[in-house]
Amino acid sequence: MKQFISINDVADPKVLIEQAMLLKADPFAHQHLGKNKTLGLLFFNSSLRTRLSTQKAAQNLGMNVMVLNVTEDSWQIEFEDGAIMNAGTAEHITEAAGVISQYCDIIGVRTFAGLKNFEEDYSESVINKFITYATVPIISLESATLHPLQSLADAITIEEHSSKAKPNVVLTWAPHPRALPQAVGNSFAQWMNQLDVNLTITHPQGYALASGFTGNAKVTTNQDEALAQADFVYAKNWSAVEDYGKILSTDSKWMITPEKMALTNNAKFMHCLPVRRNVVVADAVIDSPNSLVLQQANNRVYSAQAVLKQMLEWNN
Ligand code: CP
Repeated sequence: MKQFISINDVADPKVLIEQAMLLKADPFAHQHLGKNKTLGLLFFNSSLRTRLSTQKAAQNLGMNVMVLNVTEDSWQIEFEDGAIMNAGTAEHITEAAGVISQYCDIIGVRTFAGLKNFEEDYSESVINKFITYATVPIISLESATLHPLQSLADAITIEEHSSKAKPNVVLTWAPHPRALPQAVGNSFAQWMNQLDVNLTITHPQGYALASGFTGNAKVTTNQDEALAQADFVYAKNWSAVEDYGKILSTDSKWMITPEKMALTNNAKFMHCLPVRRNVVVADAVIDSPNSLVLQQANNRVYSAQAVLKQMLEWNN
């Protein structure tokens, strides 16, 4: 694998899920692959899970890891081609990506959507500039529109906990006090569309995800109807796409409560974390035996490890 920005970079998602499960069973079996190799992790935004799980994944493969909080610890990077750099930015992406490629065999980049300009965010300008100017493989640690390492971990978790050949999976919008990107929802829908699940997406009026991500999913604004017969309930907030980046609703009726879970087929509850308790999901749901949030977080290690392993094999 020469880059991991979306599911489109994966030759066979089912094989990648199988490989991740094999790595989970025997995490240190491929330490020789990463010997004397370095992973650089660049964070333009905050992270707990991605940062730690990707480091652990790399260490399981025998790699060295360097982490840079770009906006705090480094020079401010200019991304515009031909920019006259006489203001705040001190280093152009051309040199930054080129230099980091001298030190690292693989580079991970986390960069969130600005939520001001749809075209700019959906062009994935930051991660694409890294792909253009780096000379080593780039792995997305969540970009403006997608979070593929999270979705792969979610797919592994569903595979591990499903008792059906084709489970009913519901992605439901949930309220949140702040405007959040659509990356997790977009990416989850993209991955589920390529796996053996029945996907339903439910959200209030005005919160449709961008076209191209929902695929064959059933889409409804009736959350109760969507939850009926659900085997997995994946809650996530996202801001509006059409009225780009705006909060149109904070309706607490969309929070996942025990009453909402009672509508389902004794569904498992999923969320990528971090989560706002008693805003997105009630304590009684996230603390219940049906909650898979810690299992999802654990699978972030094997999701990253499976991707890194394929990249190291491609690089060798
Ligand atoms: N789910 C996830 O990506 O968590 P972090 O933002 O903490 O990395």
